[in-house]
Amino acid sequence: MSGALLDRDIPTWLAARPYLDVRSNDEHTLISYQLARALLKLRPEVDEATVLTAILFHDVGWKMVPVDKLADSVGPKPKYPELQRVHEVEGVAIARPHLLALAIPGVDVETVLSIIDGHDTRKHAISPEDEIVKEADKLWRFTSHGVKTISGWFGTPPKETVAMLEDFVLPQMLTKDGRAMAEALVAQGQAMNWLQDMMKREGA
Ligand SMILES: [Fe+2]
Ligand SMILES: [Fe+2]
Repeated sequence: MSGALLDRDIPTWLAARPYLDVRSNDEHTLISYQLARALLKLRPEVDEATVLTAILFHDVGWKMVPVDKLADSVGPKPKYPELQRVHEVEGVAIARPHLLALAIPGVDVETVLSIIDGHDTRKHAISPEDEIVKEADKLWRFTSHGVKTISGWFGTPPKETVAMLEDFVLPQMLTKDGRAMAEALVAQGQAMNWLQDMMKREGA
């Protein structure tokens, strides 16, 4: 079934899920997981199990950040920028015992934890696996779910959100593949926004 998790990853998802019920992180995680799989198709040499395990656990740390500070901890002008680092550190602490208990064959726990540890604040990739996690995480922002969610956080209309992503996030993509996918999603977002504008004008 397309859109489903690989059998190997279902126990990992079930272990991470209780921590993903804040800021739409369950949907964000599943969409990023599928984006990572799309990127992995283009990079068969990259270790899939490491990437997908890291993706499923990468944002569990947000669960430990006070709910009222979540929206103000990200974006171009965050009020609490230090919380970005907090969610990485808390994420490592939450993920470690689960990953040790899961003992996924072929997956080195410390390698996965090192990816989680710097997935947001470390701007460069430390391995090809880390690179794909970073790309898939950012690519979610460009999806329709990402645009809708971010528009809600910042109170910006979708048109402004897509423009912000194009100006600030697209230049941060690390790979040609990631950039191409981001450009495609921006094009889709712009088309939808244009249609919305046109319909508004017609209704006026
Ligand atoms: Fe994150
Ligand atoms: Fe994320």
